[in-house]
Amino acid sequence: MSNPSLLILPGDGIGPEVMAQVMRIIDWYGAKRGLKFDVSEDLVGGCAYDKHGTPLHDDTMAKAQEVDAVLLGAVGGPKYDKLDFSVKPERGLLRLRKEMDLYANLRPAQCFDALADFSSLKKDVVAGLDIMIVRELTSGVYFGEPRGIFKEGNERVGINTQRYTESEIARVARSAFELARKRNNKVCSMEKANVMESGILWRDVVTEVHEAEYKDVELSHMYADAGAMQLTRWPKQFDVIVTDNLFGDLLSDLAAMLTGSLGMLPSASLGAPMENGRPKALYEPVHGSAPDIAGQGKANPIACVLSFAMALRYSFDKGAEAERLESAVNAVLAKGIRTADLLNAEGVTPVSTSQMGDAILAELDASL
Ligand code: NAD
Ligand code: IPM
Ligand code: MN
Repeated sequence: MSNPSLLILPGDGIGPEVMAQVMRIIDWYGAKRGLKFDVSEDLVGGCAYDKHGTPLHDDTMAKAQEVDAVLLGAVGGPKYDKLDFSVKPERGLLRLRKEMDLYANLRPAQCFDALADFSSLKKDVVAGLDIMIVRELTSGVYFGEPRGIFKEGNERVGINTQRYTESEIARVARSAFELARKRNNKVCSMEKANVMESGILWRDVVTEVHEAEYKDVELSHMYADAGAMQLTRWPKQFDVIVTDNLFGDLLSDLAAMLTGSLGMLPSASLGAPMENGRPKALYEPVHGSAPDIAGQGKANPIACVLSFAMALRYSFDKGAEAERLESAVNAVLAKGIRTADLLNAEGVTPVSTSQMGDAILAELDASL
């Protein structure tokens, strides 16, 4: 049997820096756990634009459709700010999500014990936190038509359209309910049914799916603005949150701060099951290319490392190996090893991106 295939797209800014650490971990699994992957590497984002004049070459898109999983670093950066919208780095990522039909974006926010003091919220608010935001990823205002900047009389008007079909809502709701059954059996659905028709439909369809298929799961609804407030007030009230593309984008960055840093948050973007029963999948940190620290060896690689752990769990059926990696990260943090984004005390020297990689590998070795 051939090895599972993995397409690595490091991207721009700190993307290649954090991905370099993940590549070392992938090699470690091959050498020490006999878990060999057929790894190929390609370009996405600004670097792909520099080479091909497009943020995602068709050949790369085709490769992404064939592999068992894609692992992406980050895209974008100030160098590309002035590019035409159609070729901006972010368009490459959005094309991957759309064409692979990765409709369920799982964004777990877990507060590692060693970082409970570090969050901008009080320790007892975040200690032990373990929530999962399920963000719809292939529809909504990110993709709805009509869209564009048009001339209306003598001024310009910018238009985007929030659009959801019943089936788009139902399938992401099912993903959330299925996840909840493996966790604490609670789903909170967030929209703005008080002001948006798409929100009314969202609430109706989530309720219908619940009634018909998931009565055993506890379901609640919240307006997304109130949800943001509740996430900072008492985040431990939540288990799984299901929400649309734009609200999910905002709420997951907010949730990052509950865990201490954007550099800690992984994600999995999953589609429908393929012939082998596994979902089409792309794994990526929630953070971006962090232009302010790129090229300085300061980036925290943990979000990207934990994204690979999610790949082990969701694409390769290696839950125990995912736990090994998550435990290694936990052990490193417990020893007080920190990249600069996780420091709040004066006089503590942060480790570099590659030193954080060294520390995680040392813990992996120790786990054998
Ligand atoms: P960002 O996530 O890149 O950075 C926000 C802040 O968090 C910065 O201060 C940054 O230094 C810090 N940060 C982020 N990741 C970190 C890490 N791993 N370690 C330490 N610190 C980290 O968001 P932004 O500045 O709003 O966006 C920069 C570029 O990235 C933009 O072009 C944006 O479109 C793009 N972006 C891409 C993705 C992606 O590729 N998935 C996600 C978000 C933003
Ligand atoms: C994210 C990012 C992306 C999004 C951008 C870079 C397209 O912010 O993955 O959270 O808005 O979805
Ligand atoms: Mn975002």
